[in-house]
Amino acid sequence: MGAPHERWNPKSPRAHRKSRISPHPHPLPVDLKNKKVLVFGGAGFIGSHLVERLVSDGASVTVFDNLKTGRTANLASVWKHPGFRFVQAEVRDRKTVDATVPGHEIIFHFCDDSDIRSAAEHPDTYVEQNILGLFYVLEAMRRNGIRVILFPSSTTVFGELANPPASESHGPMVPLNLYGGAKLAAEGLISAWAHTYDFRAVVFRFVGIIGGRMDHGVVHDFVRKLQNNPTELEVLGDGSQQRSFVLVDDCVEGMLFALAKSAKNYNLVHIGNVDQISVNETADAIFQVMKLKNVRRRYTGGKVGWKGDVTSNFIATETLTAWGWKPPRSSHEAVSEAAARLAAEKPRA
Ligand SMILES: NC(=O)c1ccc[n+]([C@@H]2O[C@H](COP(=O)([O-])OP(=O)(O)OC[C@H]3O[C@@H](n4cnc5c(N)ncnc54)[C@H](O)[C@@H]3O)[C@@H](O)[C@H]2O)c1
Repeated sequence: MGAPHERWNPKSPRAHRKSRISPHPHPLPVDLKNKKVLVFGGAGFIGSHLVERLVSDGASVTVFDNLKTGRTANLASVWKHPGFRFVQAEVRDRKTVDATVPGHEIIFHFCDDSDIRSAAEHPDTYVEQNILGLFYVLEAMRRNGIRVILFPSSTTVFGELANPPASESHGPMVPLNLYGGAKLAAEGLISAWAHTYDFRAVVFRFVGIIGGRMDHGVVHDFVRKLQNNPTELEVLGDGSQQRSFVLVDDCVEGMLFALAKSAKNYNLVHIGNVDQISVNETADAIFQVMKLKNVRRRYTGGKVGWKGDVTSNFIATETLTAWGWKPPRSSHEAVSEAAARLAAEKPRA
């Protein structure tokens, strides 16, 4: 635990991206220049896109990551940037969390175990990592007077939705899997710390966030399965499940927009899309991107893909809509773009 900082070797085959940051074309109403930001899970799929954006906006960024699912290659474009620092460590290691948090102004907590389907096989993780790990971070923040935290919760907190889209005030919440249960617990902890210790917390509930560098989820799985066998596709469930998607770039934009606008101790913000599409339509969009015709579909059957899965993740986005923001791409457009990026990537070993 608390291994030494990893160094980036530009000659390594993992160094496949250029170390050059281009400024973002759409300046936000939040000034991140010289802000000291700590991103737990910053080497992962969403975290690494977020870090690239923060660095391009002038922030000094520390990434704290155990590289379980994350990769240093995801951070190649920021690795040599002045102000970037990488700490390879474990969020369950309280001493290292305590040593790393001081000196930062904004914390993004993006290191939950998010392998929803296999969660039932390792329940300890959901308490030790997703709940206790968060507690260590909140406590290190409190003791060091650091008050701004952003956290990605999920639509899984709701369980099965009777009448989607679910509003930000929807209840009761009945999570059906351990991941959703831990996210709901995390929402509660963050709200309590924010109100008791005067934090500014922004808790997001994401739909399916998709893009390059992903390592799981329906869009990822379909692309990789089709690369292995372009004639047949296994579909979990009956393909009628509805999914709302947001491209990762748009998710990052929405989060930073919310950071700029949020003013309360506890700000709950849904990041979703205006539409949802079925798993079958998701497959159609991917066939088109990959230029595949007459692919046979083999359904595993049932209304949902696995125990704990739901028929829809569609949510309303009242807060962002009231602030005048919505994702520029629909669910269908997000799937096409994400599939194109994934298909162009070298699959992970
Ligand atoms: N991808 C989505 O659609 C989605 C939807 C809702 C919420 N979220 C949440 O967003 C966050 C990021 O998700 P992602 O899809 O980028 O996942 P990811 O697995 O790519 O990223 C998680 C990162 O955390 C690191 N990590 C894992 N365990 C750790 C530990 N014990 N200590 C330190 N670092 C650890 C991993 O190495 C990885 O870099 C997670 O909290 C996830 O639950 C994601």
